[in-house]
Amino acid sequence: MLMFNENFLWGGATAANQFEGAWNVGGKGPSTADVLTDGTHSSPRRITKQIEQDAYYPSHKASDFYHRYKEDIALMGEMGFKVYRMSIAWTRIFPTGIEDEPNEEGLAFYDNVFDELKKYNIEPLVTISHYEMPLYLSQKFNGWYSRKLIDFYLKYCKVIFERFKNKVKYWLPLNEVNCGAYPFGNYISLGILNDGTENAIYQVDDVQKRYQALHNQLVAGAKVVKLAREINPDFKLGCMIAYMQSYPLTCHPKDALQCQKQMGIGNFYCADVVVRGKYPFFAKRYWEENGIHIVMEPEDEIALKEGTVDFFAFSYYSSNCISHEEEKQNTTEGNIVGGITNPYLTTSEWGWQIDAEGLRYALNELYARYQIPMMVVENGLGSYDKLEEDGSIHDDYRIAYIKEHIKNMAEAIKDGVDLIGYTPWGCIDLISVSTGEMEKRYGFVYVDSDNKGNGTFNRYKKDSFYWYKKVIASNGQNID
Ligand code: BG6
Repeated sequence: MLMFNENFLWGGATAANQFEGAWNVGGKGPSTADVLTDGTHSSPRRITKQIEQDAYYPSHKASDFYHRYKEDIALMGEMGFKVYRMSIAWTRIFPTGIEDEPNEEGLAFYDNVFDELKKYNIEPLVTISHYEMPLYLSQKFNGWYSRKLIDFYLKYCKVIFERFKNKVKYWLPLNEVNCGAYPFGNYISLGILNDGTENAIYQVDDVQKRYQALHNQLVAGAKVVKLAREINPDFKLGCMIAYMQSYPLTCHPKDALQCQKQMGIGNFYCADVVVRGKYPFFAKRYWEENGIHIVMEPEDEIALKEGTVDFFAFSYYSSNCISHEEEKQNTTEGNIVGGITNPYLTTSEWGWQIDAEGLRYALNELYARYQIPMMVVENGLGSYDKLEEDGSIHDDYRIAYIKEHIKNMAEAIKDGVDLIGYTPWGCIDLISVSTGEMEKRYGFVYVDSDNKGNGTFNRYKKDSFYWYKKVIASNGQNID
């Protein structure tokens, strides 16, 4: 007997730059994601600065949600979604980020999307900036490294809060804000492009710059929470953390300590700021040992205190192990960062280890630490799918993955965790962030397009579509 509350928010998640397409339509400006080429598991995506005529940029068409939102939302409605996590493209509202007036056509697009969701009683959960920002802000100011970004971002937030204050209740200011704690976050999350960086996977890293930019982002996120409440006290604000579950590779105390340190910097450094309103106690030593000196304005401490969130949203895909021994590092991949292979787990086709029990473990750890409602806003299996001639897709591997994760969420609820929602990632196929591929598919709905954007873009329901529909209709009871 699974234990989901009657108001449990079942749904799915996407992000504008990976899903919408129409990158230069309706007054939209170019974003940092729009100069990321395609790639594969073995050849990294390039960051090209300008649009190159011969390169292929997957975000430009993505899944074409911009032109197909009615059909896509109808499919979500058919699955019985209670919530849809989506993001607004900053560049649809402010094409370069520095305009005084917003782009009305961009705002109107999201009005239409929210109105369409309402027809199906689907609650929007909106990520305000999901791995994209105006390209201009990245090129002119080196992204979040400049404190000026705080005001540009607040201006954007004010516009969308005021415009959508009666249409959207749940907001996530910044996607996976702790991505900036890893070198991958330089360009992807912070918009920093250091000299010498050519591709998205191996970026030139300047740890001082990166942690300063992350601070600016954390201050901005906190100020936005305060602003949101001033505009509508009924808004619910969440953090969004890419939660990395790590285990010590052995019971050697040095492995345990190394793992604790990794979990601290990777997860709790940012999570503590957004939930508790201040940096954790271990930050000071980390800054000292890594030559990081963060310039903080006197107002920052107050801003962080005043801007803590209402609920804890996080992504969870896989886990890894940590060892103190140098020669054992990096034997497995994962979301944003790799680690060491766990001999008890299997991996996805993209080398991410599958660990459903790790989600229960994570929920217990996070709830013990923060004691606020939890939401799993990304989870899923990136996999190849085969479209059969009759239009079916037999993705039993995806059903198996999600089923085990739902069972473990139910166990966590029985353990006492206040879990309020679940939005599996890429509910309709979309572009992968790490590889730029369409064929790394997560969806319940297949999008007929290959890695180069060839195809009809027609939608097909996978076996998992019918299965997830049953799960939602039975509120998690009918799962086998
Ligand atoms: C999360 C991001 O890190 O992981 C998503 O928020 C991303 O944007 C997802 O798509 C899955 O990663 P990938 O690399 O398979 O797309």
